[in-house]
Amino acid sequence: MALWGGRFGEETQRDVKLYSESISFDKRLYKHDIAGSKAHVAMLAKQGIIPEASASAIRNELDNICKRIDAGDFTYDISLEDIHMHVESALIGVLGAEGARVHSGRSRNDQVALDFRLYLREAADRLIEGIRNFQRELVTKADAESETILPGFTHLQHAQVVLLAHHLLAYVEMFDRDAERLADCRKRINVMPLGSGALAGSTLPLDRNAVCKELQFERITRNSMDAVADRDFAIEFVSALATMAMHFSRLSEDLILWSSQEFDFIELSDAFCTGSSLMPQKKNPDVCELTRGKTARVYGALTALLTLCKGLPMTYNRDLQEDKVAVFDALDTAEMMLKVYPPMIRDMRVKREKMAAAAADPALMATDLAEKLVELGVPFRDAHHRVGAFVKYCKDRNCGLDEVSLEEMRLTIPEATAGFTAMFDPCESVAKRRIAGGTGFEPVREQLDFWKKRFAEGL
Ligand code: ARG
Repeated sequence: MALWGGRFGEETQRDVKLYSESISFDKRLYKHDIAGSKAHVAMLAKQGIIPEASASAIRNELDNICKRIDAGDFTYDISLEDIHMHVESALIGVLGAEGARVHSGRSRNDQVALDFRLYLREAADRLIEGIRNFQRELVTKADAESETILPGFTHLQHAQVVLLAHHLLAYVEMFDRDAERLADCRKRINVMPLGSGALAGSTLPLDRNAVCKELQFERITRNSMDAVADRDFAIEFVSALATMAMHFSRLSEDLILWSSQEFDFIELSDAFCTGSSLMPQKKNPDVCELTRGKTARVYGALTALLTLCKGLPMTYNRDLQEDKVAVFDALDTAEMMLKVYPPMIRDMRVKREKMAAAAADPALMATDLAEKLVELGVPFRDAHHRVGAFVKYCKDRNCGLDEVSLEEMRLTIPEATAGFTAMFDPCESVAKRRIAGGTGFEPVREQLDFWKKRFAEGL
């Protein structure tokens, strides 16, 4: 009979057990469940709710159970539903009546909220560390490519030349926001719900603040009904992961394009690609494609969580058990991304000469001409129009912007001076973008210094 079986006359149907068990996925909460129970019983004894001897026997046996689970020496049984029941029943199995005191003043509703918060707090710290590690890899690559120039794109059309370092550092910014989002969400994870009971608190003189302190939470939850019903922290957490996955997906899209024959800007290491079962010449950027695909799954988890909560009457409802399926899947996916990408970026071969060749397209410097005209006093709209006409002139004659004499250029740009025909050097174009936050050599060096300093300070 189940631990809650007192008022039941009949065993749960076998398929219903299969339908309702969560042990298959919540077993990963065991350490947190045990840590929570240890703090709970220590408090129960201190408050005189259970005997000191029971508390220490329970704490010892919880340690044994933890070791057994660590060692894989623990049997799971779907009849015991979830991790909470497994630990409790193992405890009672060894300690009998003494063990049966552990659940005093507690419900699985506040217990699961506690376990989940403890678990996600740890996961957030791991993820932040993983993000920092990946940022360091991006910065190292950017540092090595601080003079490499390539075309920057808007609308996937050649736009203006940029430094590869600048492009890579753009991702460092995105991942920085991801780490900040997780750190911010961690504040709301880090609130202690135990003592909320099933929904209404407890008649026992529990010392919630002692448990809070023991488990290093920032504070206790203020409202017991909110405490057992709330999954905002999980939604925020997965939302941060969805945004991070989106960043990985965008980076992947760049890498896929860059490794295509059409761009040919990079080569990913063989260790991160796969071949075709049919076409012998193929080397496919599967890791990057999988990231686009897996990002969809992380979004799915976020949608599942939001949908899970939207129609729930107060307070706890069993629907909430499904939260863990979504969160764990999103978390595992995000952690894999953080594992796979640092070495992939480290081993990525940059084809500098191919990037340089593409960056030599003089049309990439058309904006520089227009801005030069502005410096000479031409209103920008007129300047834009003149350079546009010049581009058209060259296109009609099927020649490059840099293949036209000054006299010819003056047909469309009357203000053009001698220097104008020498403005098609990509390196000079980059060098002129000295503006803060721009792609010039100096501002990019400043960005690199900024990140290196932050990493040296441990962020
Ligand atoms: N396995 C459950 C969950 O994950 C634990 C809480 C069950 N509470 C209950 N009253 N049935 O949500």
